[in-house]
Amino acid sequence: MHILVTGGCGFIGANFIQHMLHTYADTVIVNLDKLTYAGNRRNLAEVEASFLETRYFFVHGDICDQSLVTDLMHGFPFDAVVHFAAESHVDRSINDPFPFITTNVLGTQNLLEAARQAKISRFVHVSTDEVYGSLGPTGVFTEDTPLAPNSPYSASKASSDLLARAYFHTYAFPVMITRCSNNYGPYQFPEKLIPLTYLKATRNEPIPVYGDGLNVRDWIHVLDHCQGVAATLFKGQPGAVYNFGGDAERTNLEIVRTILRLTGKSEELITFVTDRPGHDLRYAMAFERSTRDLGWTPKISFDEGMEQTLHWYQDHGTWLDEVQSGAYRQFMDTWYKTRGA
Ligand code: NAD
Ligand code: TYD
Repeated sequence: MHILVTGGCGFIGANFIQHMLHTYADTVIVNLDKLTYAGNRRNLAEVEASFLETRYFFVHGDICDQSLVTDLMHGFPFDAVVHFAAESHVDRSINDPFPFITTNVLGTQNLLEAARQAKISRFVHVSTDEVYGSLGPTGVFTEDTPLAPNSPYSASKASSDLLARAYFHTYAFPVMITRCSNNYGPYQFPEKLIPLTYLKATRNEPIPVYGDGLNVRDWIHVLDHCQGVAATLFKGQPGAVYNFGGDAERTNLEIVRTILRLTGKSEELITFVTDRPGHDLRYAMAFERSTRDLGWTPKISFDEGMEQTLHWYQDHGTWLDEVQSGAYRQFMDTWYKTRGA
């Protein structure tokens, strides 16, 4: 199978490409990535060493570039597109929503149109549980929960989901939408809660916890998510939406305390800071449809996954140092300074 993957140098995309090339011997992947602050070619160093120019090809480019995307779709015999590329961090979207609308909405539209024109026979649009908005203390999101996004990030993802839906209904274009809860695992950029907490803990720096720390997220290991995306690619019904979750709801404080315990650091590092504006209280996923129709369930328990993940970060100190470029520092300093961290 020839697959165009977008955003393959990011956290989930890089894990997905590794998983596909190692699991399915007939897979050939072209990775289109703009290499934003979050995209790092070194995430695929091992893949490049084994498969570059044989089963893996890299194209440095923007999903918004109409002629590039059109040429690519027509120039290679793709069986499928798996679309991960996005601006992905909620806090950055609060700081500056524009790149989110450009990449997540216009970029997705550009890909859908080029793929439709090229008659690509499967398109997996990777989305998020955040499009459903926020839950109270009880309840779960199903695939039929109405979209009610609250941040510029989730609004841009919901918009792209609606475009994908429209392409199925209007043009019978075979697009499937996946919605997943919070991922953790190797190669996650250290602006998200788990790697950020690890980084700060190991440096004995204050760990910023928004508000009272009682917001809840459902955590899933990135490999379980990748297996869900692969199952959607192979078995998903065109037009369908599939939820993926980890069955591991935790408050943010529980997450931070777990990392402090596993790294042997003091809870005195916990620093409560000004809450994120519009902070969603709770996410929780029902994924019975994915289990029934795709045969998918999450396999990696939270405890096992967290231990493995922290070991990975311990063993990849150089990677962690390298990805913290000037642009990273600039955003982090401004964001956390205004919140009292
Ligand atoms: P990430 O920020 O780590 O990686 C995004 C990648 O997309 C980077 O390699 C970046 O260079 C690339 N990119 C950004 N703009 C681009 C553009 N205009 N053209 C080409 N490439 C571009 O993100 P992630 O955490 O790996 O998330 C991947 C996808 O999964 C996103 O669509 C996100 O919405 C979705 N998702 C993420 C999570 C999560 O917990 N991280 C959960 C559910 C869904
Ligand atoms: P994050 O990893 O940014 O993912 P998302 O916003 O997509 O859920 O944040 C996870 C949770 O952790 C969220 O409730 C916000 C909270 N959080 C903090 O308390 N402190 C931080 O420094 C960060 C980055 C997040």
